[in-house]
Amino acid sequence: PLATLKEVLDDAFRNGYAVGQFNINNLEFTQAIMEAAEEERSPVILGTSEGAIKYMGIDYTAAIALTAARNATVPVVLHLDHGSSYEWVLKCLRRGWSSIMIDGSHHPLEENIRLTKQVVDACKVLGVSVEGELGRIGGTEDELTVDEREASLVRPEEAKRLVEETGIDALAPAIGSAHGRYKGKPQLDFDRLAAVRDLCKLPLVLHGGSGIPDEDIRKAISLGVAKINVNTENQEAFTAKVREIFAADREVYDPRKYLGPARQAIKDTVKAKIRLFGSNGKA
Ligand code: G3H
Ligand code: ZN
Repeated sequence: PLATLKEVLDDAFRNGYAVGQFNINNLEFTQAIMEAAEEERSPVILGTSEGAIKYMGIDYTAAIALTAARNATVPVVLHLDHGSSYEWVLKCLRRGWSSIMIDGSHHPLEENIRLTKQVVDACKVLGVSVEGELGRIGGTEDELTVDEREASLVRPEEAKRLVEETGIDALAPAIGSAHGRYKGKPQLDFDRLAAVRDLCKLPLVLHGGSGIPDEDIRKAISLGVAKINVNTENQEAFTAKVREIFAADREVYDPRKYLGPARQAIKDTVKAKIRLFGSNGKA
């Protein structure tokens, strides 16, 4: 059934595991993620970025994801990923999203607090959860100097203000992770993560979850991360399988012949993540 982010994250935070947010890009992604979650008996978060919603169309996105939730025997959260404006939030609320990320991280702190609070006020009325963000989560195109990197990371005292003044259910603090592929080994600031956890005492979210070594994932979970976002690794698995099939068979023309195996590749990737995050057997 459809669940809120708060419902699934509060248990994860208390019991020291994390729930995966797996972004959906099309029908096959959604089916693969759902099959993996069902087989692993895990709660799951279907992430929809604004780009993916524009690609699929918002009504198709809602229909696919809400059908997945309705048919599921595990809790399924339908979550707007990196919501950029109040308008986007309202569009998703109207169609039944159960969770919203409002990403005000590129605004000055006061404006981030104002926008996030505005979203929380609307979502509270409807029983919808809210995730906020503070600090800048990198893109892999970013080449930061040491000073720039320091400036981009979350300040724990500001995180405390964002949490207390808005009433969000989860916080994504920038601790050095990045979206897309990492160049070299990711450098996560675990001391900063622990400081945010101690000050804020709410479930934390790790963005840029693809390509982070398993031991760093486990360490982050032990320091309060209860939600981990993964998109790139699923996209890579999907595309690698399609390339493999095209390389081996130049005659193939039925999309089901390559989309089916590509869907299976995502499913295998998601199952491995669920086990790493420790959410298997929790639903
Ligand atoms: O919000 C989405 C995630 O943070 C995706 O991260 O590019 O490492 O898969 P990723
Ligand atoms: Zn993200």
